[in-house]
Formats: sequence, structure tokens, C-alpha cells
Amino acid sequence: MFDIQIKKLIAAERTRQKKVINLIASENYVSKDVLEALGSVLTDKYGEGYPGRRYYRGTSVVDEVELLAQERALHLFGLADKSPSIGVRGNSISSNWSVNVQPLSGSPANFAVYAALVPQGEKIMGMELTHGGHLTHGQKVSMTGKFWSSILYTVNKTTELIDYDEVKRIAIAEKPKLIVSGYTAYAHIVDFKKFREIADAADALLLVDMSHFAGLVAGGVYPSPFPYADIVTTTTHKTLRGPRSAMIFSKVDARELWKKIDKVIIPGLQGGPHFNAIAAVAVALREADTPAFKRYAAQVVSNARALADELARLGWRIVEGGTKTHLLRVDTWMNGKGMSGREAADKLEAAGIIVNENTIPFDTRKPMDPSGLRLGSAPETTRGKKEKDFREIARKIDAILRN
Ligand SMILES: Cc1ncc(COP(=O)(O)O)c(C=O)c1O
Repeated sequence: MFDIQIKKLIAAERTRQKKVINLIASENYVSKDVLEALGSVLTDKYGEGYPGRRYYRGTSVVDEVELLAQERALHLFGLADKSPSIGVRGNSISSNWSVNVQPLSGSPANFAVYAALVPQGEKIMGMELTHGGHLTHGQKVSMTGKFWSSILYTVNKTTELIDYDEVKRIAIAEKPKLIVSGYTAYAHIVDFKKFREIADAADALLLVDMSHFAGLVAGGVYPSPFPYADIVTTTTHKTLRGPRSAMIFSKVDARELWKKIDKVIIPGLQGGPHFNAIAAVAVALREADTPAFKRYAAQVVSNARALADELARLGWRIVEGGTKTHLLRVDTWMNGKGMSGREAADKLEAAGIIVNENTIPFDTRKPMDPSGLRLGSAPETTRGKKEKDFREIARKIDAILRN
């Protein structure tokens, strides 16, 4: 690389990544193959539109890339027909599900779903940010909370878990057009069947945003939302261990949701697809479709549990009482007896452990300086760490924070 400044910065970031223990729940380390696809000549190509229906010429190769990514996405989540026929709906293989692999990231993917399916100003319903929901689930500071009228549900104050009866009560009273399940900081398994019942009772669409746990679904250690959802969105760069990108799956039936979504992605919201990213997603999807990835996903969950259990044994309060996934939240504030999440994250960073500060349910502090930390096991599991390593990390965290 001739650009010495950027070359140096990339090298510095590589060194930083190697030096630290990375417990960021939304990060991971991709394979060399994923990086190779990302850094390929596919980045040079324009191809607005969908395979076989582009506004540009010279797209025969990128058409194949996009179709392959779609096919692998449907296959990975058990949605592909037994005898797939490429290009049935112009941009998707034959299946009861359609997938759009063009969203540039998770936030535009969620925005596209609302824009396609919920008239502006109508109600969407998602979880409150401080309880575990994402910005794009209708928070007031997000465009999703400005363009649509958002109803935000919380977890139960005592259990810190989703109270399905309460969610149902709110949904029936408010009658949102769309309900979002799937979160940014929720450590338990979501009951998608119950969400389906709630959506049906409120006559709403059900969107499951599986960004955080997509890799766990692929690895068979988290229930699939597909039997219950109308639409499923996901980022590809968290537990799924792919490049920064996203996908939108929509159920194919008489409602033709997929058509509306495809139209919002292009021409409604985006321009040319990032074919290098789409190719890298295809690589990651293939990697996730292996026994080795299943073992990885199981290890991720087991490692998170080891981390949570050891921290709890050392006296830290784990939000929701533990974890069943790749992430957990730790209450560091402890009603003023401890320290803020920001202070804790700073101390840990100074000692080479990278985490993010996070709100806890019913937080009395501000999101920029909240009461807790969010920890995740996916990146360090990619680096081969096992339960005993995570217990050791817990002891390090304890020693750093108590010092
Ligand atoms: C549940 C969920 N949805 C959507 C997103 C947004 O993804 P992106 O950062 O790629 O826009 C995130 C990111 O953290 C997320 O956790």
C-alpha cells in the first residue's frame, strides 16, 4: 500500500486488536476469506437493481454473486426449497422466504422494513433502548421514532425479562402496525411463538431483528424466529461472523411483502449494492453452514455462561440473573454502591479489556454514563478461548474493578 498513513493505521489497529481481550458483544473477527472478498475488485462495480434487472451493464458476474449470497442465506436458515430454481422472483431463489442481501447495514435494513410496510406516522412497537432494544426499534432519537409513532415496551421490573402478558396488553391497546422482537442487549431466549400470538391479537406484522443472535440460530443453539415472523432482519457482522452488512428476509405469500421491501431498498433508499460486502457475506454464510460453526456457536454460549457465573460468584449482579446467549449485562452501579458503567469500562480498557458501558433496565443514570456494562463472548471464542479462559477473564475484571 502506497498510502503510508492509512497503512500505519491499519497496522496499529491490527496490533490493538491482538493486544486486547475483546468483550464487545456486537463484534467478531472475520476469516481471511471474508476479508479477501471484502478487499476484492467487486468493490469497483455498480449494479443498481437486482439480478437480471439492473440499471447497469456488465453485471453478469455480480448477478451470480448476489444470487449465491441469497441462496446461501436461505439455505443456512433452513428456508431453501428442496429443488431451488434460481431467479424465480427475479432476485431470489424459490422458497417460502425471500431474502434481500443489499442493505448496507442493520439500521438501514430496519428502516427499509418500516418504510415498506408501515405508512409514515402509523405505530410501530419495539423495546425501550435502556431495557435492551435498538435505536432503530422506534427510539425517539432515531428517525424510526420520528417518522413513525413508536410505542416502547419494557422488561418486567422484578425479573428483568420480557413480560409477554404486558407486551400483549400494550399491543392490543395500541394496535401498532408492526411489532419488533429481537434486541441489542437481552441475554435470554425470546419466545417467538408468544410474539406471534401477540402480533395476531393486535393484527400487527411481526419483525424479528436477529442481528445479535443470528449466528446462534445458524449454529442451532437459539430457536429460529422463521416459523413465527413475517419479516426477519439481521446484521451479518456480530455472532454470524461476517462483514458489516445486513439482510432482510420476508415471508413469501399473497401479501407480497418482499416486493415492497425490495422496492424500498432500491430505488427507495439505497443506490448501488456493495458487491464486495455481498460476496463477503456469501463467504461467511458458507462458513456458518458447517459443523465447525455449530461447535463455535455452542462454545460462544457456554463461554458467556462461564463469564456470567464467575462474575456472579465474585459478587457482581448479572442483569436478568444470567445469560442464555452470547451476551450479558453487569450492574456495576449497584444502587450507588459501585461505579458507573463508563467508569468501569474506562478502568477495564486501561487494563486491556474492551467492553461497552450499557444501560440496565429501569436505569436511573443516562445512556452516556449508565449503570452497567454489556459483555459478549463471540470475538474471544473465535480466538479459541474456552470456559476456563472466560472464568479467568471474570476474575481479572473483578480484580480491576475492585482495585
Ligand atoms: C438488534 C440490532 N439491530 C440493528 C443494529 C444496527 O446495525 P448497524 O450498526 O449495522 O446499523 C444493531 C447494532 O448494534 C442491533 O444490535
